[in-house]
Amino acid sequence: MLLLCSCGGGSHYRIGVSQPSSDAWRSQMNDEIRREILFHDDAEVEIRSADDDNETQIADIRHFMEQGFDLIIVSPNEGEALSPVLAEAYGKGIPVIVFDRAVKGDSYTSYLKLNNEELGRAAADYALDKGNGGKGGILEIRGLDGSSPAEERHRGFMERLGREGNGTGAPLASVNGKWNEEEARRLTDSLLDLHPQANIIYAHNDAMAIGASKAARACGRDDITILGIDATPSLGVQAVADSAIDATFVYPTAGDRVVRTALAILRGEPYPRIDRVGSTTLVDSHNAPILLAQNQLLADKTRQLEELNGKLSEMRGEHRLQGYFLYAVVVIALLLGGGTVLMVRNIRERRRYEKILREKNGELAAERDRQESLNAELEKERDRQRELYAELEEATRSKLAFFTNVSHDLRTPLALIAEPVEQVSKATYLEPSHRTLMQLANRNVGILRRMIEQILDFRKHQGGRLDLQPETVDLSGIVREWTESFAMLASKRRMKLTIDIPDSPAMVSVDLEKMERVFFNLLSNAFKYTPDGGTITVSVQTEKDRVLLRVSDNGSGIAPDDLDHIFERFYQARKVRPRGSGIGLALTKAFVERMGGSVSVESGKDRGSCFTVSLPMASDREQAADKAATELPVAAPVRTAAPHTELRELLLPEPEAIKEGDLRFDDDKPLLLMVDDNADIRRLVRELLGADHNIIEAADGKAALRLAMKYVPDIVVSDVMMPGMDGLELTRQLKQEKGTSHIPVLLLTACRLEEQRVAGFLSGADSYISKPFGGELLRVRVRNLIENRQRIHNLYLDCENPLAEIAARRSELPELNSQEAVENDFYRDFLKVVVERHADSDLAVGHIAAALGMTAGVLGRKVKALTGMAPTDVLRKVRMNQARLLLTTTDKSISEISYEVGFSSPQYFARCFRETFGQTASAFRESRR
Ligand code: FRU
Repeated sequence: MLLLCSCGGGSHYRIGVSQPSSDAWRSQMNDEIRREILFHDDAEVEIRSADDDNETQIADIRHFMEQGFDLIIVSPNEGEALSPVLAEAYGKGIPVIVFDRAVKGDSYTSYLKLNNEELGRAAADYALDKGNGGKGGILEIRGLDGSSPAEERHRGFMERLGREGNGTGAPLASVNGKWNEEEARRLTDSLLDLHPQANIIYAHNDAMAIGASKAARACGRDDITILGIDATPSLGVQAVADSAIDATFVYPTAGDRVVRTALAILRGEPYPRIDRVGSTTLVDSHNAPILLAQNQLLADKTRQLEELNGKLSEMRGEHRLQGYFLYAVVVIALLLGGGTVLMVRNIRERRRYEKILREKNGELAAERDRQESLNAELEKERDRQRELYAELEEATRSKLAFFTNVSHDLRTPLALIAEPVEQVSKATYLEPSHRTLMQLANRNVGILRRMIEQILDFRKHQGGRLDLQPETVDLSGIVREWTESFAMLASKRRMKLTIDIPDSPAMVSVDLEKMERVFFNLLSNAFKYTPDGGTITVSVQTEKDRVLLRVSDNGSGIAPDDLDHIFERFYQARKVRPRGSGIGLALTKAFVERMGGSVSVESGKDRGSCFTVSLPMASDREQAADKAATELPVAAPVRTAAPHTELRELLLPEPEAIKEGDLRFDDDKPLLLMVDDNADIRRLVRELLGADHNIIEAADGKAALRLAMKYVPDIVVSDVMMPGMDGLELTRQLKQEKGTSHIPVLLLTACRLEEQRVAGFLSGADSYISKPFGGELLRVRVRNLIENRQRIHNLYLDCENPLAEIAARRSELPELNSQEAVENDFYRDFLKVVVERHADSDLAVGHIAAALGMTAGVLGRKVKALTGMAPTDVLRKVRMNQARLLLTTTDKSISEISYEVGFSSPQYFARCFRETFGQTASAFRESRR
């Protein structure tokens, strides 16, 4: 708004007008000034009158300077008196226009000079014309002395009188009337007394002429001709019309002209430095009435003009208001428009957000519903879990009850087996293989007995019937002795067994027999899970009122997932071998806790394990009471209860598998790869099948796969559950490998469940036997699998045109299973290479193997397994068949044919042909003609 308002403004000039007096002539001029200014929007005037007083006029000029007026127009009362203040204003850069009356010096911007001398001359001419020459005389009433028009008017008058007066000479008298009517009347009164002969009075303005007229009429001198100057309608012209005076001369006011000059100066337009305004007009009884009428007309027009101008100003004001209003409307419209746009955008945005919000709310609600239903499901699942857990608890309880009962029942027959087995295994007459079998049996009877003992103990513990017979002992001494008894075992397995027990006693109150079982359980675990050459450390420490027994090893460690569960009954760490029954550690924990202690473990996969048994240190009172009761000295010999000879037996290193380097193959026997992580089982199979088979062994799937790819055995017998790669995965991988896919796989497993058998077959296994298995069954299965495989592939042998034959037979053999189909495909590829390249005498097995992407060794064993022939035999057979074909269907010579089928020597070809077909090539050709 401010901007728009300021645009309508532009520059605005303020002009100060200083008049020396306020008579009719000045009024007329001021009217002209105001009228002219009406036509200029960019300017305004302030007009001041000094009442014929120099000081007042100086003050007026100062006022204009101080108020910052842009320009000063001045008619100085007396030129000399006003000069300094006008020079000051001019010096300050305020433009100064002087008009009518002159100023001393040239401190002005422009000077509008009126021709006063001409007026004097015109008055003189009139006087001479009217005057009666030598009779009478002239009286002159001058304007103010010191004002330039008075001097000039006098000079012009005198000049014309002197030249034209024919010696009539100067006026009778010339006095200073000060431009004032009253002064002139008073002076005329005196002068007529003094010069009664005077018949013409020349006054420098109309006011003084009227004053003179009044004085003359008062003393009866109507005959005197009276002249004035100015001829303003309201005063001079009216006086002529009224016959108060005889004539007057027009002194132009030129108010409009002076304003135009002022605006030209202010606007930087060209203007005259000295502007001369000349020519006057005589007004006498002849033209005065017309002039008055004209003036009246002019006055009317002026009034109309002023009215119009008033309206115009009003309209301008209105227009300006309307302009402001328009601007305001435009601005408001713009604001409203902008506001509307913003509002619309806002509404749109809000709608968009509301939509998003609704969608999000919808999603949230859906998500909430989903969460709720999930929660409900989770609740259900938790209930189900609870039920399952309860069922499991029940199942475990009844399983344990069942095991307990069975264990009880097993004890007697086991004792009856154990004794004879032990006796027989020691007999001297046994053959080595029988001795091995008996030792196997003896060793595993021990394992079984220990498991039964543990189950019975655990059951007692659960029933709260685990009796304790606590006594106070020095754990340091006892543990040292127990540990030392394992020294032999450690050295046999090249293990470092460190005992870290201080000499000071560590007294605890424990059931010694249970404590020994705890210790042996921990130590035997350490031996089980630490490889040969590893380190086991046993330490006893006292800490405040606790005694800490630690058994640590640098063995395979326990996976974090298993760590939280290993003290739970029947928990078996996954993928850990040898597998326990899952009861040893549970029993250890039960024993320790019953004795007021706790057991904990720190372990990490492949970082070893450290088991800590923390027991309360025996109080002095317990020690004293115990001492009194037993009457034994503190350093009494250690009593042991557990059968640790048997334990140590169990911990002996497993019988070693035959090393690869030591393998001796008997070419007539098939090669069997036995895979089981239990060395006893491998040993048993070796004993059962070793006589009829070459046997190689592996303890896990990975090692087995490596051996199978290297040796391409005739059969693989594998356990299913093994650490690392299990039997199912091994079978899958064997069946995927081109070189081993033909090998029959027999899986041995302790699981009898139907779905496990299915899984076995799905993996591609050819047969499946559950443990425990009879030796005879195993032997028969193995033999059948090997023979079956050969029988199937005999189909390929001895055909005239091998490739066509294979294709034909393939379609004739719908009973082939997928595995057999794979073998057919392999054999077809093999034959294709042989048939296509049989003419090349340099063709070697290596070339054929490379073309099929396998090694010569693997190809050899595989072809042999499938056909019973070596690849070179197959090649020769193909060459012979081809030769036979050429002999009967072409006339080529025998030696030509021999080269064509890849023989480099016709003689050698002849011999081979004879060996193959029982007759010579030429005889054969003859017989077919
Ligand atoms: C008015 C006046 C006129 C005269 C002029 C001369 O103030 O006396 O009558 O013509 O001044 O400056």
